[in-house]
Amino acid sequence: MTPVSLRWQGDASGHLEILDQTLLPGRLEWIACRDVPTLIEAIKSLRVRGAPAIGIAGGYGLVVAAGEAVAAGMPPAHARAHVLARAEQLATARPTAVNLRWAVERCLRPVAQLPDTSSAVTLAAALFAEAREVHDEDRRLCAAIGRHGATVLPEGGVLTHCNTGGLATGGAGTALAVITTAWDDGRRFEVFADETRPLFQGSRLTAWELVQRGIPVTVLCDSAAAHLLKTGRVAACIVGADRITANGDTANKIGTYGLAILAAAHGVPFYVAAPSSTFDLSLATGDEIPIEERAAAEVTRPLGVIAAPEAALAFNPAFDVTPARLIRGIVTEHGVIEPVTPERIRDILGR
Ligand code: MRU
Repeated sequence: MTPVSLRWQGDASGHLEILDQTLLPGRLEWIACRDVPTLIEAIKSLRVRGAPAIGIAGGYGLVVAAGEAVAAGMPPAHARAHVLARAEQLATARPTAVNLRWAVERCLRPVAQLPDTSSAVTLAAALFAEAREVHDEDRRLCAAIGRHGATVLPEGGVLTHCNTGGLATGGAGTALAVITTAWDDGRRFEVFADETRPLFQGSRLTAWELVQRGIPVTVLCDSAAAHLLKTGRVAACIVGADRITANGDTANKIGTYGLAILAAAHGVPFYVAAPSSTFDLSLATGDEIPIEERAAAEVTRPLGVIAAPEAALAFNPAFDVTPARLIRGIVTEHGVIEPVTPERIRDILGR
């Protein structure tokens, strides 16, 4: 069964619940987000994470913001200003995944159509309808990505990086949906998951998801990938994305770029899987993508263990950018972009 990372409780006056991914695979605990600061803390500390999932969380966060306005008895103008201020806080909670701002802006669009005199309750209803649609749509997109991706996945082992499954999306996932769809089709192959330092999304989350589904998984240190590829046991690498620019350059979890170079060096095809909401065609190349830098302690104190002297500094970018030339194809809900060129991207996304 695909795990669920977030769920809405009740109607437009309800609240968002988030599965705290920082506790997995040890503990399953849900956090109730009844106010926006609680949700923003959850996004910043990766309790909810993965590009599509934080987009969905951002959409629901606006409903929570409207709920704050209702609870405070704000008049219409004040309520609208409050929602817009919260929208900016949510959209900027993490900078690299474009899905977050995309979802927040999309959910605000119906509100812009409402008269200025609309009450906070009316704003909440409009925001709820759109946030739910973003969530439902993501389920459908994940299923389509899984289908399209399974057709291009060659026979043989697959290596993935970070977590791109149900925990990272509103549905079956992106890259992981490709793997599970091929598996559900009856194909059998070895699945390898990079542990994905420093936060171990591969070993803690991807391996957990695969084990839940009964799919055997082999976890490896990120630094073992070159040796694994040399053995010939991996026929393809497939990863997700946080932002893809107009030329196909792809930001994804730190270590993805290195893996793509290794795949090229060993003649192994490297695929990216992502919904169209992950594309940012306003940026020409990956050089323009903002890269999130995170706390040194994630590197020096992984999982709370002292792994470096107190005085050591740490370099901790959360993402890197893989140039389009290293990517064999990008699997989207509309089909596979292959070769990865600006023209082909526009062509497929325009469908
Ligand atoms: O920092 P994270 O865990 O949010 O990073 C997640 C990734 O890099 C995923 O690979 C990406 O968001 C794709 S999720 C379908």
